[in-house]
Amino acid sequence: MSTVIQGARPYGEGDPVDVLIEDGVITAIGAVDVPEDADVLDASGQVLLPGFVDLHTHLREPGREDTETIDTGSAAAALGGYTAVFAMANTDPVADNAVIVEHVWRRGQEVGLVDVHPVGAVTVGLKGEKLAELGTMANSQARVKVFSDDGLCVADPLLMRRALEYSTALDVVIAQHAEEPRLTVGAQAHEGERAARLGYPGWPAAAEESIVARDCLLALHANARLHVCHVSTTGTADVLAWAKERGTQVTAEVTPHHLLLTDERLATYDPVNKVNPPLRTQSDTARLRTALAEGVIDCVATDHAPHAVQDKDTEWTAARPGMLGLQTALSIVAETMVRTGLLDWRGVARVMSERPAEIGNLADHGRPIAVGEPANLTLVDPDAEWTVRGAELASIAANTPYEGMRLPGVVTATLLRGRITARDGKIC
Ligand code: NCD
Ligand code: ZN
Ligand code: ZN
Repeated sequence: MSTVIQGARPYGEGDPVDVLIEDGVITAIGAVDVPEDADVLDASGQVLLPGFVDLHTHLREPGREDTETIDTGSAAAALGGYTAVFAMANTDPVADNAVIVEHVWRRGQEVGLVDVHPVGAVTVGLKGEKLAELGTMANSQARVKVFSDDGLCVADPLLMRRALEYSTALDVVIAQHAEEPRLTVGAQAHEGERAARLGYPGWPAAAEESIVARDCLLALHANARLHVCHVSTTGTADVLAWAKERGTQVTAEVTPHHLLLTDERLATYDPVNKVNPPLRTQSDTARLRTALAEGVIDCVATDHAPHAVQDKDTEWTAARPGMLGLQTALSIVAETMVRTGLLDWRGVARVMSERPAEIGNLADHGRPIAVGEPANLTLVDPDAEWTVRGAELASIAANTPYEGMRLPGVVTATLLRGRITARDGKIC
């Protein structure tokens, strides 16, 4: 079985080339003679990138299959240009043991659209009381490489220290949802003028920044790897820059929504804009963009968080936080980072594929586009635009904050080990 991609520009650089893929591997780049049985992808005018890797997604299986499943979430991922995703552990039951993580891994392989890597919980039941069996999950068939209590912060400094110490022996990374819970009791929105005007209890920037600073110090002393989820403030970028300068093994992600949206959205009263951490200010989005461009923030992760209609179409304070992200991520990055000149397509490959694959320790994703490499690839039409319609997205839930928006950058095809998983907006 072979596939030929015709006339694409790798990383958006140089002259268009053809790419021959045989048995899941790139076997020729340049002018390629099309084998008789080959599937041909006409990619003129398109940018060829390594398949995207999402370090942070919520697939809701097991437990909330009314909002997303591994099947539908994988489809959303493939349509969004992803070839691998990390599925967060805050399912019901929690992915805090080998049985659950192996189920998620196996189900992902059965669906076959993206590699679904389960994230294991750091603490039993996400309760923040005692460590889960990280070693058993790491050594299971699912080979768990990332651990997180995401949704909740590992707030106890002693537990966090133990988790970091333990992680070094397993060569895994602890991903922290940085939120000091004592500072966010009842919080509804970014602590600032807008929340105050609406009478919403605020979520202060310091609740994130203080945990990130603490964890960076703990990681440095433990010589452990720390990953910071969904960075949302200028102060966190400052702390990360400081910690990296000191040699801390810390990496960080920013979500598309924190690159684009601000707490001005509060004026709509629409809970589709409610998310954790909350949408911040315009000076924060500006700093997050430059921090991503400069590598202070390593990568983009979606924090794709599907929610049921009854949990979103309700009053703000009762609504659950979270928004869809898998199918819109590339376009939001194109809008905020490429159109603004902060990143070229090579930079997009770095923040959406290479760095997340490195952080998640995936050997076969985020690889160079070169002969001999696995054909995990994404084709993007950089000049095309599309209009977001939540009802048309592959997710079961429809809680996109970009409803009706016209966005640049269309994913035209995704290939997983040479197999076309999505093409022209349809799953293959
Ligand atoms: C996430 C969810 O719904 O699971 N919600 C969110 O607002 N981001 C949890 C999380 O990422 O913290
Ligand atoms: Zn989180
Ligand atoms: Zn999350």
